[in-house]
Amino acid sequence: MSKILVVYYSRTGYTRTIAGRVARACGADLDQIEGYKTRAGAWGYMRSAVGAVMHLDAPILRPRNEPGGYDLILIGTPVWCRNVPGPVRTYIKENRQAFRRVAFFCTYGGSGQNKVLRDLEILAGRPALATFAITDSEVASKLYNRRLSKFVAKLQNTSKFIGQPSHGEPLFDDNLIGL
Ligand SMILES: Cc1cc2nc3c(=O)[nH]c(=O)nc-3n(C[C@H](O)[C@H](O)[C@H](O)COP(=O)(O)O)c2cc1C
Repeated sequence: MSKILVVYYSRTGYTRTIAGRVARACGADLDQIEGYKTRAGAWGYMRSAVGAVMHLDAPILRPRNEPGGYDLILIGTPVWCRNVPGPVRTYIKENRQAFRRVAFFCTYGGSGQNKVLRDLEILAGRPALATFAITDSEVASKLYNRRLSKFVAKLQNTSKFIGQPSHGEPLFDDNLIGL
């Protein structure tokens, strides 16, 4: 069976929530991009904003799961100042030569999501099989089951490489997704 990796960066938990749901729906492995610098509080916010606007790389820990071992890499990220966060930029630049197929998702407050999804394709050097963007309020309200389901269905239609969910679970169980 084909192997799928969901890898994400999350400062405040929104992207982590969605990454977990996507991984479970696809039967994928899950990995987190971790930076060395703290991004908590006002200074962390400022550092994140400046780095994103200036397209700065940010040092990250070595990933636990080597992307070269996967048929499809799904990358999840927040939107920072209408840009890709430094840690995600660095992850892609350091690993893109190992990517086969890619898909992207992002969480955001209200703007910049389409630009970020395009930037991710440019950074990765290949088109996404599918993309998905979701606002913080949608994540908080948990009203994303249908949209998330469409995202995974599109991945299934455009790739023969999506595995079945682990443990024989249906692709989307309302109890799992949290409607
Ligand atoms: C430095 C910074 C810049 C941000 N810029 C944007 C932005 O340009 N547009 C937007 O819609 N949301 C923006 N946000 C909000 C985040 O994209 C949003 O809260 C996201 O869901 C956070 O994901 P996380 O909880 O996984 O870190 C920004 C957040 C931070 C920390």
